[in-house]
Amino acid sequence: MFIATLLLAFSAFSSGDVLPAPFRMELGESGKAFRVAGARIKCDVPLHAETHRLLHQMVAVSKHEQGTSGGVMVFTERPLFDASFRSFEAYELHISPDSLHVVAATPTGFLRATQTLVQMCDKKGRVPCGRIADAPAYEWRGLMIDVSRHFFPVEFLKKQIDIMAAHKLNRLHLHLTDAAGWRMEIKRYPRLTTLAAWRDAALWKDWWHGTRKYAEQGTPQAYGGYYTQRELRELVAYASERGIDIVPEIEMPAHSEEVLAAYPELSCTSASSCPSDFCAGNEAVYDFLQNVLDEVMDVFPSRYIHLGGDEAGKESWKTCLRCRRTMIENDMTAPDSMPDPSALERLQAHFMRRMGRYLSAHGRRMIGWDEVIDATLPEDAAVMVWRDLRHARRAAALGREVILSPAAYCYLDAYQDAPPSQPEAIGGYLPFEQVAAFSPETFADEAHRRRIKGVQGNLWTEYVSTPDHAEYMLYPRMLALAEIGWSGASRRSASDLRRAVINRVAQLRENGVRAFDLRTAVGQRALSHPLSHKALGATVVYHRPFSASYAASGVAALTDGRCGGWSYHDGAWQGFLADAQASCPSLDVTLDLGAERRISWVGADFMQVCNPEIFYPSAFRVSVSRDGQNYTLLGEQSVPSQKTILPDIRTFFIKRKARARYIRVQASPSAFGGWLFTDEIIVK
Ligand code: ACM
Ligand code: ZN
Repeated sequence: MFIATLLLAFSAFSSGDVLPAPFRMELGESGKAFRVAGARIKCDVPLHAETHRLLHQMVAVSKHEQGTSGGVMVFTERPLFDASFRSFEAYELHISPDSLHVVAATPTGFLRATQTLVQMCDKKGRVPCGRIADAPAYEWRGLMIDVSRHFFPVEFLKKQIDIMAAHKLNRLHLHLTDAAGWRMEIKRYPRLTTLAAWRDAALWKDWWHGTRKYAEQGTPQAYGGYYTQRELRELVAYASERGIDIVPEIEMPAHSEEVLAAYPELSCTSASSCPSDFCAGNEAVYDFLQNVLDEVMDVFPSRYIHLGGDEAGKESWKTCLRCRRTMIENDMTAPDSMPDPSALERLQAHFMRRMGRYLSAHGRRMIGWDEVIDATLPEDAAVMVWRDLRHARRAAALGREVILSPAAYCYLDAYQDAPPSQPEAIGGYLPFEQVAAFSPETFADEAHRRRIKGVQGNLWTEYVSTPDHAEYMLYPRMLALAEIGWSGASRRSASDLRRAVINRVAQLRENGVRAFDLRTAVGQRALSHPLSHKALGATVVYHRPFSASYAASGVAALTDGRCGGWSYHDGAWQGFLADAQASCPSLDVTLDLGAERRISWVGADFMQVCNPEIFYPSAFRVSVSRDGQNYTLLGEQSVPSQKTILPDIRTFFIKRKARARYIRVQASPSAFGGWLFTDEIIVK
């Protein structure tokens, strides 16, 4: 199938071509090789059917190219490395012109060895002589695909499984449920797939900013879909043959609007215009979710079942009598007071604990996003960290297994190149180089490092509606994460990894994978101004405060010579929120140059990213003064407010000669209100 054509793509092998890089690899004398063509295979150990398929393909394809070899491939079962998870996937290859010995302790080890051979085998069916000893650094090397925001067909998932397997990734996490659509057939609750799997607009963006209504299956406007249990079982088997577990995610208690539309009695209000959270005080909710999990566990043999747990607003819990009673009965709040945020947190912990225990009682383990971290979770619960290092450290210190997928390195829905050159994405800027720089070890104190079980890339699909677009966002960044998951951090230099990935992407593209070609990357924002200018280091007085959440370097940020990149939260951009009436400038500062200077140009860059409501100013005004008392207007630039699909950065400026010591810069919010973001006030 797909992988067949990934074979034999190298004309001349170089040790850097194997991705992820093996733990130890010594190539023999140049030019010496084992010929796979027609080699005898001596094997009395159990192998995955996929391993047989890959081996026979290599032998047959290269036989066609090159005639037969007299060599023999010998498979030997033997414990390798230590007895931990590493031994499960470890392998050795001993390659000489006459024989190729493959050693491993398990069928999965033989599969990993064969996946390496596939990458080493050249078009003439030759594998260079040498020795390889290899084992993974992390047990969990995952990819999450959000199939709720947009539905992706089974064939697409199988193709991704093939690509994952070729790069030794071993967990496919499916985000099966969210407001935008429920995607798994649950026989006991048919409304989940006759209603909650369908919505009245195809593109998530139109739906989310539009009606947010669901549609009956089969009605003309209904967009969506779901996987039948039969399809999912087949997908699980397909993945398992390739050494990959599928981890299903069923979101709770939040991100559950679609369930509450189908079964409104499970919300706090029982209204059909539902909040996002299940009622945490209603036994019927726990029964419902346990029944759902029974079917999930029946279909997915994965040890880990993901229960979501992120971003619960808990709004409806505050006034719900059932939730209140649960909080009072469990001493989370006093009977005569409104529940405070910590009571609501404890109610969520109570919810997750109950569901986690249900899984434990069935021999499974709960995993949840990092909001679930709580000392009272079942002992065996694992945490998937998506926010920052603090959450990883806390989870590890509590003795939890930690899977790292921090947004700053692993959220593949962010722009991978300069936003104006890219299809619309959710925001952010996460180029390949930043993913490749991810170092999982730094996310835990030394004492707790062994709690880090693995890494995962996440593809959320709010703005990704087609398989082609999904592949474009996934690769090559996911290849960097495959390397990091297998090696701990990339064992090679950034430029060597980049070279290996560029070769790999060329092969993927030849084989119909719509990967992004790094060679065409525009890269980080080109700075439009010299970093040295007349206001560098000038004192800045703020007449309106900057946002504490987007402070950059504080009062020095606008004259520190640092320009921001493509991400507004990269620590160089300073944010200003419009006031409620948007009647006064959002940005209003006075710069003191320290002495009177001749000036000819005053300007600043502003960023516009409409989804998070960051807009260009509607007016940019500069006044100057010699004494700090009497100001004259240098100039004003007005710009009609207009929304744009892609983020961009624009320079606002006034060009006029003057003498001044004090410069007042004001920027009015856009007609849409929202935020202004600027990084530096430049004076020439
Ligand atoms: C998440 O991104 N809300 C897990
Ligand atoms: Zn409730």
